[in-house]
Amino acid sequence: MRLLVTGGAGFIGSNFIHHMISSYSDYEIINLDALTYAGNLENLTSIQDNPKYTFIKGDITDRKLVDTIFQMSPDYVIHFAAESHVDRSILDPGIFVQTNVTGTQVLLEAARKYNIKKFVHVSTDEVYGTLGETGLFSENTPLSPNSPYSASKAGADMLVRAYHETYGINVNITRCSNNYGPYQFPEKLIPLMIANAFEEKPLPVYGDGLNVRDWLHVEDHCRAIDLVLHAGRSGEIYNVGGKNERTNLQIVKAILQELNKPESLISFVQDRPGHDRRYAIDAQKITTELSWRPQFTFESGIRSTINWYLNHKDWWNRIRSGTYREYYMTQYANR
Ligand code: NAD
Ligand code: DAU
Repeated sequence: MRLLVTGGAGFIGSNFIHHMISSYSDYEIINLDALTYAGNLENLTSIQDNPKYTFIKGDITDRKLVDTIFQMSPDYVIHFAAESHVDRSILDPGIFVQTNVTGTQVLLEAARKYNIKKFVHVSTDEVYGTLGETGLFSENTPLSPNSPYSASKAGADMLVRAYHETYGINVNITRCSNNYGPYQFPEKLIPLMIANAFEEKPLPVYGDGLNVRDWLHVEDHCRAIDLVLHAGRSGEIYNVGGKNERTNLQIVKAILQELNKPESLISFVQDRPGHDRRYAIDAQKITTELSWRPQFTFESGIRSTINWYLNHKDWWNRIRSGTYREYYMTQYANR
């Protein structure tokens, strides 16, 4: 079995590749990643010499390159590659449309041409928009994205659906809630707050800090994608979430407590424009159909994640100091 993973040098993609390599010794993995600021080959150092693993530096919007890669006959595509940060999408929406919408269409077109067995599109709960104080997102909740990021992901979802309906491609879409865990780029809430708290820098909390996210450990998300890949019904959407709703303030306080740092480090800053108030997932479908269950509680997951960041200070220090880019380019040039 040969898998083409896009965006495998990012946070979830690299965790997924580690998960698949350790779970299926006979699978081959091709990782196509452009190594944007978020792509980091250091996430994959331990498997870089594995003969079952191939890295290709390239852009999913590059039709010619994508066509060449599909000539390597992957059986399955697991599509993670994306611009993924909401704040960056507010500053510069164009690249989000280019990568997330056009890039997905380029991959779908190749999947159609080369009769790929299945295309798994890794989407997000943010396509559903925002919830009030009650209710959950189900797979039938209408799409109502509020940021350029989520709008671009919703656009990609619609294309995946259209390629299934029009051309009969075997697809699945997963829509997961907020992930946390090892290798998450420290622009996102949890790693940013861990690093700042450790360095006793201010912890910037947007608005009143009462926005709610539904947190899931990245390894539980990877297990869900694995199940969808192998057993998801053609054309179906699967929501993934761990029933771990927390306000941002609760998260930040938990991190400070774990690191034994004072709450006076919390600094309330201007809110994110269009800031979604609450996300919460109904994961009944994947639980019932595919017997998926998260293995981490939030308490065990956040503790192990904090420990991971404390044990990998060099990893995030290189990113935060900017030297990581140079390092990865050298790494790549030597391969
Ligand atoms: P990330 O930003 O950490 O990684 C994205 C990866 O994609 C990087 O390695 C980057 O180099 C690569 N990439 C970007 N543009 C590319 C291009 N044009 N061509 C090839 N590669 C490119 O993102 P993540 O947090 O790991 O998210 C992965 C996927 O999961 C995304 O599609 C995201 O929408 C989705 N998702 C993320 C979360 C979350 O909480 N992080 C939750 C649900 C869904
Ligand atoms: O829900 C899934 C989504 O989760 C994914 O699709 C996105 O790729 C991923 O980035 C994430 O989006 P969020 O916007 O929810 O994540 P972020 O870590 O940026 O922010 C989480 C919450 O924390 C959000 O309410 C904004 C707030 N926040 C974030 C940062 C970076 C702060 O209060 N301060 C901050 O400095």
